[in-house]
Amino acid sequence: MSGSNKHFSPLARLLHWSMAVMIIAMLFIGAGMVASVSERHEWLLNLHKPLGIAILVLVILRIIVRVSSQTPPLPADLPGWQVLAAKLSHYVLYALMLAMPLIGWAMISAAGDPVMLSSSVRLPSIVAADAGTFAFLRQAHSWLAYTLFLTVLTHIAAALFHAWVRRDEVLGSMLRGRG
Ligand code: HEM
Ligand code: HEM
Repeated sequence: MSGSNKHFSPLARLLHWSMAVMIIAMLFIGAGMVASVSERHEWLLNLHKPLGIAILVLVILRIIVRVSSQTPPLPADLPGWQVLAAKLSHYVLYALMLAMPLIGWAMISAAGDPVMLSSSVRLPSIVAADAGTFAFLRQAHSWLAYTLFLTVLTHIAAALFHAWVRRDEVLGSMLRGRG
């Protein structure tokens, strides 16, 4: 499972890039769902729920892969505040990848609706039906989605800063393997 010293393992890279595509898609699907007050975009919600639960399963796998494998070190000459910012932002990304689907699932449970992933797959409710809890979780899902969006944008800017300004191996470590 462990990668070479300079690169993330193939599984870590596969999880990173597939989840990046899924999460960016989810942010736009979510925005599309709430964009119109007059029309309910049911098909978008039917996409949003199973994709969100898939992200939940994958992030659990990803955390297991992360704690059981080596990751490449950041460049030795990186200023301390940038090392700290990178570590903190990665924790925030992991926390949000876990919290967003759980809050979405809890929100539908609190609304008292059956949590249907498809016409036949139903998940159990994880919180009791309650209007106040629903309103709180709905707000939390929305604000955390903005936080995730901003953190992802900053993360992409940092990756491009490494590639184009510092010209170090940080982006390469997530793009390529040993070869
Ligand atoms: C990484 C996972 C997820 C992301 C990034 C995400 C993102 C979003 C976004 C951006 C919105 C629009 C928020 C707003 O501006 O009000 C939204 C709404 C919503 N999401 Fe998610 N979501 C995720 C997972 C889930 C899951 C797993 C479920 C349910 C099983 C879910 C259920 C909902 C519902 C019910 C809404 C509100 C729709 C409405 O008010 O009409 N989400 N989500
Ligand atoms: C929704 C989108 C994304 C999410 C949630 C995400 C999340 C993460 C997380 C949690 C890590 C830390 C890996 C670890 O040490 O365990 C990471 C690393 C990394 N990501 Fe992303 N990422 C996303 C998109 C991108 C994009 C679009 C790029 C490139 C432009 C990128 C470039 C990188 C690079 C270069 C690293 C390695 C950083 C290092 O060595 O510390 N990511 N990403």
